[in-house]
Amino acid sequence: MKLKDPRLLKTQALIDGQWLDADDGGSIPVVNPADGEVIARVARCQGTETRRAIEAASRAFQDWRSQTAKARSRALRRWFDLIIAHQEDLAVIMTAEQGKPLAESRGEVAYGAAFLEWFAEEAPRVYGDTIPGPAPDKRVVTLKQPVGVVACITPWNFPIAMLTRKVGPALAAGCAVVCKPASATPLSALAIAELAVRADIPAGVVNVLAGDTRAIGGELTANPEVRKLTFTGSTAVGKMLLEQCAATVKRTSMELGGNAPFIVFNDADLDAAVQGALICKFRNAGQTCVCANRILVQSDIHDAFAERLAAAVAALRVGNGMQPETEVGPLIDSKAADSVLGMVEDAVELGAEVLAGGQRAVNGECFVEPTILTGVRSDMRVFREEIFGPVAPLVKFDTDDEAVELANDTEYGLAAYFYSRDIGRVWRMAERLDYGIVGINEGIISNEAAPFGGMKASGIGREGSKYGMDEYLEVKYLCMGGI
Ligand code: SIN
Repeated sequence: MKLKDPRLLKTQALIDGQWLDADDGGSIPVVNPADGEVIARVARCQGTETRRAIEAASRAFQDWRSQTAKARSRALRRWFDLIIAHQEDLAVIMTAEQGKPLAESRGEVAYGAAFLEWFAEEAPRVYGDTIPGPAPDKRVVTLKQPVGVVACITPWNFPIAMLTRKVGPALAAGCAVVCKPASATPLSALAIAELAVRADIPAGVVNVLAGDTRAIGGELTANPEVRKLTFTGSTAVGKMLLEQCAATVKRTSMELGGNAPFIVFNDADLDAAVQGALICKFRNAGQTCVCANRILVQSDIHDAFAERLAAAVAALRVGNGMQPETEVGPLIDSKAADSVLGMVEDAVELGAEVLAGGQRAVNGECFVEPTILTGVRSDMRVFREEIFGPVAPLVKFDTDDEAVELANDTEYGLAAYFYSRDIGRVWRMAERLDYGIVGINEGIISNEAAPFGGMKASGIGREGSKYGMDEYLEVKYLCMGGI
Protein backbone atom coordinates (compact mmCIF):
# COMPACT_ATOMS: atom_id res chain seq x y z
CA MET A 1 0.00 0.00 0.00
CA LYS A 2 1.69 3.21 -1.16
CA LEU A 3 0.11 6.24 0.49
CA LYS A 4 0.93 9.91 -0.10
CA ASP A 5 0.17 10.45 3.60
CA PRO A 6 1.22 7.29 5.50
CA ARG A 7 -0.05 8.81 8.77
CA LEU A 8 -3.54 7.90 7.60
CA LEU A 9 -2.79 4.26 8.26
CA LYS A 10 -3.94 4.00 11.88
CA THR A 11 -3.95 0.76 13.82
CA GLN A 12 -4.85 1.99 17.32
CA ALA A 13 -8.26 2.95 18.70
CA LEU A 14 -9.35 6.59 18.93
CA ILE A 15 -10.76 7.15 22.43
CA ASP A 16 -11.26 10.61 23.90
CA GLY A 17 -8.95 12.15 21.29
CA GLN A 18 -6.08 9.73 22.07
CA TRP A 19 -4.75 6.95 19.85
CA LEU A 20 -4.49 3.90 22.12
CA ASP A 21 -3.54 0.23 22.00
CA ALA A 22 -5.90 -2.39 23.43
CA ASP A 23 -5.47 -2.68 27.23
CA ASP A 24 -4.18 -6.25 26.86
CA GLY A 25 -2.01 -5.41 23.82
CA GLY A 26 -4.10 -7.72 21.60
CA SER A 27 -4.60 -7.15 17.91
CA ILE A 28 -6.60 -8.46 14.94
CA PRO A 29 -5.17 -9.03 11.48
CA VAL A 30 -6.54 -7.12 8.48
CA VAL A 31 -6.35 -9.26 5.37
CA ASN A 32 -6.37 -8.20 1.72
CA PRO A 33 -9.04 -10.47 0.19
CA ALA A 34 -7.42 -10.25 -3.25
CA ASP A 35 -4.25 -12.10 -2.21
CA GLY A 36 -4.65 -13.18 1.41
CA GLU A 37 -1.81 -10.94 2.61
CA VAL A 38 -2.02 -9.50 6.16
CA ILE A 39 -1.75 -5.74 5.55
CA ALA A 40 -1.97 -4.54 9.16
CA ARG A 41 -2.91 -5.50 12.69
CA VAL A 42 -5.29 -3.24 14.61
CA ALA A 43 -5.95 -2.93 18.33
CA ARG A 44 -8.35 -5.61 19.54
CA CYS A 45 -10.48 -3.64 21.99
CA GLN A 46 -12.84 -5.20 24.51
CA GLY A 47 -15.60 -4.08 26.87
CA THR A 48 -13.37 -1.93 29.11
CA GLU A 49 -12.05 0.21 26.26
CA THR A 50 -15.62 0.52 24.98
CA ARG A 51 -16.81 1.70 28.39
CA ARG A 52 -14.04 4.32 28.41
CA ALA A 53 -15.08 5.50 24.94
CA ILE A 54 -18.71 5.78 26.05
CA GLU A 55 -17.69 7.81 29.12
CA ALA A 56 -15.59 10.09 26.91
CA ALA A 57 -18.48 10.53 24.47
CA SER A 58 -20.83 11.26 27.35
CA ARG A 59 -18.54 14.04 28.66
CA ALA A 60 -17.87 15.49 25.19
CA PHE A 61 -21.60 15.46 24.38
CA GLN A 62 -22.32 18.15 26.99
CA ASP A 63 -20.12 20.72 25.29
CA TRP A 64 -20.78 19.60 21.70
CA ARG A 65 -24.56 19.90 22.09
CA SER A 66 -24.16 23.44 23.44
CA GLN A 67 -22.12 24.67 20.51
CA THR A 68 -24.03 26.56 17.87
CA ALA A 69 -25.37 24.55 14.96
CA LYS A 70 -23.21 26.75 12.74
CA ALA A 71 -20.06 25.73 14.65
CA ARG A 72 -20.93 22.04 14.30
CA SER A 73 -21.68 22.65 10.64
CA ARG A 74 -18.25 24.21 10.07
CA ALA A 75 -16.52 21.28 11.79
CA LEU A 76 -18.35 18.79 9.57
CA ARG A 77 -17.43 20.85 6.52
CA ARG A 78 -13.73 20.82 7.52
CA TRP A 79 -13.94 17.03 7.88
CA PHE A 80 -15.61 16.76 4.45
CA ASP A 81 -12.86 18.91 2.84
CA LEU A 82 -10.10 16.75 4.38
CA ILE A 83 -11.73 13.52 3.17
CA ILE A 84 -11.97 14.89 -0.37
CA ALA A 85 -8.36 16.12 -0.18
CA HIS A 86 -7.26 12.58 0.78
CA GLN A 87 -9.60 10.75 -1.58
CA GLU A 88 -6.85 8.79 -3.32
CA ASP A 89 -5.16 7.51 -0.14
CA LEU A 90 -8.50 6.59 1.38
CA ALA A 91 -9.44 4.71 -1.79
CA VAL A 92 -6.17 2.76 -1.71
CA ILE A 93 -6.71 1.80 1.95
CA MET A 94 -10.28 0.72 1.17
CA THR A 95 -9.34 -1.41 -1.82
CA ALA A 96 -6.51 -3.03 0.12
CA GLU A 97 -8.76 -4.18 2.96
CA GLN A 98 -12.13 -4.57 1.22
CA GLY A 99 -11.18 -5.62 -2.31
CA LYS A 100 -13.47 -3.40 -4.40
CA PRO A 101 -11.98 -1.89 -7.57
CA LEU A 102 -10.11 1.39 -7.00
CA ALA A 103 -12.58 3.34 -9.14
CA GLU A 104 -15.40 2.14 -6.86
CA SER A 105 -13.38 3.00 -3.75
CA ARG A 106 -12.82 6.54 -5.06
CA GLY A 107 -16.56 6.70 -5.70
CA GLU A 108 -17.31 5.52 -2.17
CA VAL A 109 -14.98 8.10 -0.62
CA ALA A 110 -16.87 10.85 -2.49
CA TYR A 111 -20.24 9.25 -1.62
CA GLY A 112 -19.24 8.94 2.04
CA ALA A 113 -17.92 12.50 2.23
CA ALA A 114 -21.17 13.78 0.69
CA PHE A 115 -23.06 12.76 3.86
CA LEU A 116 -20.83 15.06 5.91
CA GLU A 117 -21.37 17.93 3.48
CA TRP A 118 -25.13 17.30 3.38
CA PHE A 119 -25.51 17.19 7.16
CA ALA A 120 -23.19 20.17 7.62
CA GLU A 121 -25.80 22.03 5.61
CA GLU A 122 -28.73 20.50 7.51
CA ALA A 123 -27.29 21.29 10.98
CA PRO A 124 -28.47 24.92 11.10
CA ARG A 125 -31.94 23.95 9.80
CA VAL A 126 -33.22 21.88 12.73
CA TYR A 127 -36.49 23.67 13.37
CA GLY A 128 -39.08 23.15 16.08
CA ASP A 129 -42.75 24.18 15.84
CA THR A 130 -45.24 26.49 17.45
CA ILE A 131 -48.54 24.65 17.62
CA PRO A 132 -51.96 26.29 18.16
CA GLY A 133 -52.79 25.66 21.84
CA PRO A 134 -55.83 23.66 23.00
CA ALA A 135 -56.97 26.45 25.41
CA PRO A 136 -56.83 30.28 25.30
CA ASP A 137 -54.20 30.46 28.06
CA LYS A 138 -51.96 27.69 26.70
CA ARG A 139 -49.12 27.77 24.20
CA VAL A 140 -47.46 24.70 22.70
CA VAL A 141 -43.91 24.73 21.36
CA THR A 142 -41.58 21.92 20.26
CA LEU A 143 -37.81 21.81 20.48
CA LYS A 144 -35.58 19.26 18.79
CA GLN A 145 -32.64 18.11 20.87
CA PRO A 146 -29.85 15.59 20.32
CA VAL A 147 -30.59 12.07 21.60
CA GLY A 148 -27.20 11.81 23.37
CA VAL A 149 -24.40 9.27 22.94
CA VAL A 150 -24.86 7.20 19.79
CA ALA A 151 -23.31 3.79 19.08
CA CYS A 152 -22.63 3.20 15.37
CA ILE A 153 -21.94 -0.36 14.22
CA THR A 154 -20.89 -0.44 10.59
CA PRO A 155 -20.31 -3.14 7.94
CA TRP A 156 -17.40 -4.10 5.72
CA ASN A 157 -19.08 -3.61 2.34
CA PHE A 158 -19.07 0.23 2.47
CA PRO A 159 -16.52 0.94 5.22
CA ILE A 160 -16.60 4.75 4.84
CA ALA A 161 -20.06 5.62 3.52
CA MET A 162 -21.95 3.58 6.13
CA LEU A 163 -19.96 5.34 8.87
CA THR A 164 -20.44 8.90 7.60
CA ARG A 165 -24.13 8.23 6.85
CA LYS A 166 -24.55 7.70 10.61
CA VAL A 167 -21.93 9.99 12.11
CA GLY A 168 -22.77 12.98 9.83
CA PRO A 169 -26.34 13.46 11.06
CA ALA A 170 -25.44 12.43 14.63
CA LEU A 171 -22.78 15.14 14.91
CA ALA A 172 -24.92 17.71 13.09
CA ALA A 173 -27.70 17.09 15.64
CA GLY A 174 -25.27 17.56 18.55
CA CYS A 175 -24.67 13.90 19.50
CA ALA A 176 -21.30 12.28 20.28
CA VAL A 177 -20.53 8.85 18.82
CA VAL A 178 -18.76 5.58 19.59
CA CYS A 179 -18.15 3.66 16.36
CA LYS A 180 -17.38 -0.01 15.92
CA PRO A 181 -16.30 -0.74 12.32
CA ALA A 182 -16.37 -4.29 10.96
CA SER A 183 -13.30 -6.34 11.91
CA ALA A 184 -12.58 -7.04 8.23
CA THR A 185 -12.28 -3.34 7.31
CA PRO A 186 -11.25 -1.20 10.28
CA LEU A 187 -8.49 0.76 8.46
CA SER A 188 -10.86 2.92 6.40
CA ALA A 189 -12.81 3.91 9.51
CA LEU A 190 -9.64 4.66 11.48
CA ALA A 191 -8.28 6.79 8.61
CA ILE A 192 -11.54 8.75 8.59
CA ALA A 193 -11.21 9.15 12.37
CA GLU A 194 -7.69 10.58 11.92
CA LEU A 195 -9.18 13.18 9.58
CA ALA A 196 -11.84 14.01 12.20
CA VAL A 197 -9.00 14.78 14.61
CA ARG A 198 -7.31 16.98 11.99
CA ALA A 199 -10.65 18.73 11.37
CA ASP A 200 -10.56 19.81 15.05
CA ILE A 201 -13.65 17.89 16.03
CA PRO A 202 -13.33 18.00 19.81
CA ALA A 203 -11.85 15.03 21.70
CA GLY A 204 -14.47 12.46 22.68
CA VAL A 205 -17.06 13.55 20.10
CA VAL A 206 -15.89 10.85 17.67
CA ASN A 207 -14.51 7.59 19.13
CA VAL A 208 -13.64 4.62 16.93
CA LEU A 209 -12.62 1.20 18.15
CA ALA A 210 -12.27 -2.15 16.44
CA GLY A 211 -11.86 -5.50 18.14
CA ASP A 212 -13.88 -8.14 19.89
CA THR A 213 -17.29 -7.82 18.25
CA ARG A 214 -19.25 -9.51 21.04
CA ALA A 215 -17.53 -7.62 23.86
CA ILE A 216 -17.80 -4.21 22.17
CA GLY A 217 -21.36 -4.87 20.95
CA GLY A 218 -22.33 -6.16 24.41
CA GLU A 219 -21.13 -2.98 26.11
CA LEU A 220 -22.62 -0.65 23.47
CA THR A 221 -26.04 -2.27 23.82
CA ALA A 222 -26.03 -2.70 27.62
CA ASN A 223 -24.57 0.65 28.69
CA PRO A 224 -27.38 3.03 29.73
CA GLU A 225 -25.28 6.07 28.72
CA VAL A 226 -25.74 5.03 25.07
CA ARG A 227 -29.11 6.44 24.08
CA LYS A 228 -29.22 5.27 20.49
CA LEU A 229 -27.78 2.41 18.46
CA THR A 230 -27.54 2.57 14.70
CA PHE A 231 -26.53 -0.54 12.79
CA THR A 232 -25.97 -1.58 9.18
CA GLY A 233 -25.57 -5.30 8.59
CA SER A 234 -27.45 -8.56 8.42
CA THR A 235 -31.03 -9.02 9.58
CA ALA A 236 -29.93 -11.82 11.93
CA VAL A 237 -27.47 -9.58 13.78
CA GLY A 238 -29.94 -6.67 13.68
CA LYS A 239 -32.56 -8.76 15.49
CA MET A 240 -30.02 -9.74 18.13
CA LEU A 241 -28.99 -6.10 18.67
CA LEU A 242 -32.65 -5.05 18.96
CA GLU A 243 -33.12 -7.64 21.70
CA GLN A 244 -29.97 -6.50 23.47
CA CYS A 245 -31.08 -2.84 23.29
CA ALA A 246 -34.47 -3.60 24.81
CA ALA A 247 -33.19 -3.72 28.39
CA THR A 248 -32.07 -0.08 28.28
CA VAL A 249 -34.86 1.01 25.87
CA LYS A 250 -32.54 2.60 23.33
CA ARG A 251 -33.62 4.28 20.16
CA THR A 252 -32.49 2.19 17.20
CA SER A 253 -31.98 2.53 13.46
CA MET A 254 -31.52 -0.73 11.58
CA GLU A 255 -30.37 -0.92 7.98
CA LEU A 256 -30.54 -4.65 7.36
CA GLY A 257 -30.61 -7.23 4.59
CA GLY A 258 -32.37 -7.04 1.25
CA ASN A 259 -33.64 -9.25 -1.55
CA ALA A 260 -34.17 -6.74 -4.33
CA PRO A 261 -36.31 -7.63 -7.33
CA PHE A 262 -35.20 -6.05 -10.61
CA ILE A 263 -38.16 -6.23 -12.99
CA VAL A 264 -37.87 -5.77 -16.75
CA PHE A 265 -41.21 -5.26 -18.52
CA ASN A 266 -41.77 -5.86 -22.21
CA ASP A 267 -41.96 -2.11 -22.97
CA ALA A 268 -38.57 -1.37 -21.32
CA ASP A 269 -35.62 0.18 -23.11
CA LEU A 270 -33.66 -3.10 -23.18
CA ASP A 271 -30.19 -1.56 -23.46
CA ALA A 272 -30.89 0.72 -20.50
CA ALA A 273 -32.25 -2.26 -18.53
CA VAL A 274 -29.13 -4.33 -19.27
CA GLN A 275 -26.85 -1.48 -18.20
CA GLY A 276 -28.96 -0.89 -15.08
CA ALA A 277 -28.90 -4.59 -14.17
CA LEU A 278 -25.15 -4.76 -14.71
CA ILE A 279 -24.30 -1.88 -12.38
CA CYS A 280 -26.99 -2.77 -9.86
CA LYS A 281 -25.95 -6.44 -9.67
CA PHE A 282 -22.17 -6.40 -10.06
CA ARG A 283 -21.20 -3.19 -8.21
CA ASN A 284 -18.98 -4.17 -5.26
CA ALA A 285 -19.03 -7.76 -6.63
CA GLY A 286 -22.68 -7.99 -5.68
CA GLN A 287 -22.00 -7.21 -2.03
CA THR A 288 -24.56 -4.50 -1.35
CA CYS A 289 -27.88 -4.85 0.41
CA VAL A 290 -29.57 -3.02 -2.48
CA CYS A 291 -28.07 -5.23 -5.24
CA ALA A 292 -30.52 -6.78 -7.70
CA ASN A 293 -31.02 -10.20 -6.10
CA ARG A 294 -33.67 -11.56 -8.49
CA ILE A 295 -34.04 -10.34 -12.06
CA LEU A 296 -37.65 -10.83 -13.16
CA VAL A 297 -38.08 -10.58 -16.93
CA GLN A 298 -41.36 -10.59 -18.89
CA SER A 299 -41.48 -13.72 -21.03
CA ASP A 300 -41.64 -12.16 -24.52
CA ILE A 301 -38.37 -10.23 -24.01
CA HIS A 302 -36.70 -12.75 -21.66
CA ASP A 303 -34.37 -14.38 -24.20
CA ALA A 304 -33.31 -11.11 -25.82
CA PHE A 305 -32.56 -9.60 -22.39
CA ALA A 306 -30.67 -12.70 -21.22
CA GLU A 307 -28.54 -12.71 -24.37
CA ARG A 308 -27.58 -9.03 -24.03
CA LEU A 309 -26.89 -9.37 -20.31
CA ALA A 310 -24.71 -12.43 -20.96
CA ALA A 311 -22.66 -10.49 -23.53
CA ALA A 312 -22.17 -7.61 -21.07
CA VAL A 313 -21.25 -9.97 -18.21
CA ALA A 314 -18.74 -11.85 -20.37
CA ALA A 315 -16.91 -8.54 -20.90
CA LEU A 316 -16.53 -7.82 -17.13
CA ARG A 317 -12.90 -7.95 -16.00
CA VAL A 318 -12.36 -9.81 -12.74
CA GLY A 319 -9.20 -9.22 -10.72
CA ASN A 320 -7.33 -7.47 -7.94
CA GLY A 321 -9.04 -4.13 -7.30
CA MET A 322 -5.69 -2.34 -7.36
CA GLN A 323 -5.35 -3.06 -11.09
CA PRO A 324 -6.94 -0.17 -12.98
CA GLU A 325 -8.79 -2.39 -15.46
CA THR A 326 -10.56 -4.46 -12.77
CA GLU A 327 -14.36 -4.18 -12.69
CA VAL A 328 -15.20 -7.05 -10.32
CA GLY A 329 -12.97 -7.69 -7.32
CA PRO A 330 -12.89 -10.50 -4.74
CA LEU A 331 -15.56 -11.23 -2.17
CA ILE A 332 -14.67 -10.29 1.39
CA ASP A 333 -13.34 -13.77 2.26
CA SER A 334 -13.33 -17.34 1.01
CA LYS A 335 -16.27 -18.27 3.27
CA ALA A 336 -18.38 -15.69 1.44
CA ALA A 337 -17.31 -17.17 -1.92
CA ASP A 338 -18.18 -20.68 -0.67
CA SER A 339 -21.61 -19.50 0.43
CA VAL A 340 -22.36 -17.87 -2.95
CA LEU A 341 -21.18 -20.95 -4.85
CA GLY A 342 -23.34 -23.11 -2.56
CA MET A 343 -26.41 -21.12 -3.67
CA VAL A 344 -25.46 -21.58 -7.34
CA GLU A 345 -25.09 -25.31 -6.75
CA ASP A 346 -28.50 -25.48 -5.07
CA ALA A 347 -30.15 -23.66 -8.01
CA VAL A 348 -28.49 -25.92 -10.57
CA GLU A 349 -29.53 -29.05 -8.64
CA LEU A 350 -33.12 -27.80 -8.69
CA GLY A 351 -33.06 -27.21 -12.45
CA ALA A 352 -31.60 -23.73 -13.12
CA GLU A 353 -29.19 -23.36 -16.05
CA VAL A 354 -25.87 -21.53 -15.99
CA LEU A 355 -25.78 -18.98 -18.83
CA ALA A 356 -22.48 -17.41 -17.70
CA GLY A 357 -19.86 -18.09 -15.02
CA GLY A 358 -20.95 -20.38 -12.21
CA GLN A 359 -17.51 -21.25 -10.79
CA ARG A 360 -14.85 -19.93 -8.45
CA ALA A 361 -12.74 -17.57 -10.59
CA VAL A 362 -9.10 -18.44 -11.32
CA ASN A 363 -7.91 -15.27 -9.55
CA GLY A 364 -8.06 -16.83 -6.07
CA GLU A 365 -10.08 -18.33 -3.22
CA CYS A 366 -12.24 -15.22 -2.70
CA PHE A 367 -13.21 -14.67 -6.33
CA VAL A 368 -16.45 -15.84 -7.98
CA GLU A 369 -17.08 -15.60 -11.72
CA PRO A 370 -19.81 -13.13 -12.68
CA THR A 371 -22.69 -15.55 -13.11
CA ILE A 372 -26.10 -15.61 -14.79
CA LEU A 373 -28.65 -18.32 -13.98
CA THR A 374 -31.82 -18.85 -16.00
CA GLY A 375 -34.92 -20.85 -15.16
CA VAL A 376 -34.82 -19.74 -11.53
CA ARG A 377 -37.88 -20.49 -9.38
CA SER A 378 -39.07 -19.22 -6.02
CA ASP A 379 -38.13 -22.46 -4.21
CA MET A 380 -34.40 -21.95 -4.91
CA ARG A 381 -32.06 -20.37 -2.37
CA VAL A 382 -30.93 -17.70 -4.87
CA PHE A 383 -34.53 -16.48 -4.96
CA ARG A 384 -35.17 -16.57 -1.21
CA GLU A 385 -31.82 -15.55 0.30
CA GLU A 386 -29.66 -12.46 0.01
CA ILE A 387 -26.90 -13.65 -2.36
CA PHE A 388 -24.23 -11.00 -1.58
CA GLY A 389 -22.16 -12.07 -4.58
CA PRO A 390 -21.90 -11.64 -8.37
CA VAL A 391 -24.75 -13.97 -9.31
CA ALA A 392 -27.75 -12.81 -11.37
CA PRO A 393 -30.72 -15.23 -11.22
CA LEU A 394 -33.26 -14.68 -14.04
CA VAL A 395 -36.93 -15.49 -13.42
CA LYS A 396 -39.58 -15.41 -16.18
CA PHE A 397 -43.02 -13.89 -15.63
CA ASP A 398 -46.06 -13.14 -17.80
CA THR A 399 -48.33 -10.54 -16.19
CA ASP A 400 -47.91 -7.43 -14.02
CA ASP A 401 -49.79 -9.16 -11.17
CA GLU A 402 -47.38 -12.08 -11.33
CA ALA A 403 -44.41 -9.67 -11.23
CA VAL A 404 -45.79 -7.95 -8.12
CA GLU A 405 -46.48 -11.28 -6.43
CA LEU A 406 -42.97 -12.59 -7.13
CA ALA A 407 -41.35 -9.27 -6.17
CA ASN A 408 -43.14 -9.02 -2.83
CA ASP A 409 -42.70 -12.72 -2.01
CA THR A 410 -39.92 -12.13 0.53
CA GLU A 411 -39.52 -11.12 4.15
CA TYR A 412 -37.30 -8.23 2.98
CA GLY A 413 -38.35 -4.78 1.76
CA LEU A 414 -35.30 -2.61 1.12
CA ALA A 415 -34.89 -1.80 -2.60
CA ALA A 416 -36.76 -2.78 -5.77
CA TYR A 417 -36.18 -1.75 -9.38
CA PHE A 418 -38.20 -1.88 -12.56
CA TYR A 419 -37.87 -0.82 -16.16
CA SER A 420 -40.91 0.32 -18.13
CA ARG A 421 -41.78 3.28 -20.34
CA ASP A 422 -45.52 3.11 -19.68
CA ILE A 423 -46.39 5.95 -17.28
CA GLY A 424 -49.51 4.16 -15.96
CA ARG A 425 -47.55 1.01 -15.24
CA VAL A 426 -44.80 3.09 -13.62
CA TRP A 427 -47.21 4.55 -11.06
CA ARG A 428 -49.07 1.28 -10.44
CA MET A 429 -45.87 -0.68 -9.87
CA ALA A 430 -44.26 2.03 -7.73
CA GLU A 431 -47.28 1.94 -5.43
CA ARG A 432 -47.63 -1.85 -5.25
CA LEU A 433 -44.03 -2.80 -4.45
CA ASP A 434 -43.49 -3.25 -0.68
CA TYR A 435 -40.06 -1.63 -0.57
CA GLY A 436 -38.57 1.48 1.01
CA ILE A 437 -36.68 2.40 -2.18
CA VAL A 438 -37.86 1.93 -5.77
CA GLY A 439 -35.53 2.55 -8.71
CA ILE A 440 -37.53 3.25 -11.88
CA ASN A 441 -35.48 2.96 -15.08
CA GLU A 442 -32.47 3.41 -12.79
CA GLY A 443 -30.06 0.90 -11.26
CA ILE A 444 -28.24 3.19 -8.81
CA ILE A 445 -30.44 4.67 -6.13
CA SER A 446 -28.00 5.66 -3.37
CA ASN A 447 -27.19 9.30 -2.71
CA GLU A 448 -26.99 11.61 0.27
CA ALA A 449 -30.12 13.61 -0.64
CA ALA A 450 -32.51 10.65 -0.63
CA PRO A 451 -33.93 8.68 2.35
CA PHE A 452 -32.29 5.24 2.37
CA GLY A 453 -34.01 2.48 4.33
CA GLY A 454 -36.32 -0.47 4.23
CA MET A 455 -39.57 -2.03 5.32
CA LYS A 456 -40.27 -5.44 6.92
CA ALA A 457 -37.12 -7.42 7.84
CA SER A 458 -34.96 -4.84 6.04
CA GLY A 459 -35.01 -2.52 8.99
CA ILE A 460 -36.19 0.54 10.83
CA GLY A 461 -35.50 4.18 10.03
CA ARG A 462 -34.06 6.18 7.17
CA GLU A 463 -30.52 7.42 6.52
CA GLY A 464 -29.43 10.43 4.47
CA SER A 465 -31.76 13.24 3.33
CA LYS A 466 -33.74 15.58 5.58
CA TYR A 467 -35.28 12.51 7.25
CA GLY A 468 -31.87 11.17 8.30
CA MET A 469 -31.51 13.95 10.85
CA ASP A 470 -34.70 13.02 12.76
CA GLU A 471 -33.13 9.70 13.73
CA TYR A 472 -30.75 11.58 16.05
CA LEU A 473 -33.21 14.09 17.51
CA GLU A 474 -35.73 13.95 20.33
CA VAL A 475 -38.84 16.09 19.99
CA LYS A 476 -39.47 17.87 23.28
CA TYR A 477 -42.79 19.62 23.73
CA LEU A 478 -43.17 22.65 26.00
CA CYS A 479 -46.63 23.33 27.32
CA MET A 480 -46.90 26.90 28.60
CA GLY A 481 -49.93 27.75 30.70
CA GLY A 482 -51.33 30.81 32.50
CA ILE A 483 -50.77 33.14 29.58
C1 SIN B 1 -25.49 -1.20 1.80
O1 SIN B 1 -25.24 -2.14 1.08
O2 SIN B 1 -25.70 -1.37 2.99
C2 SIN B 1 -25.55 0.21 1.30
C3 SIN B 1 -25.49 0.35 -0.15
C4 SIN B 1 -25.52 1.78 -0.60
O3 SIN B 1 -25.48 2.73 0.18
O4 SIN B 1 -25.60 1.95 -1.80
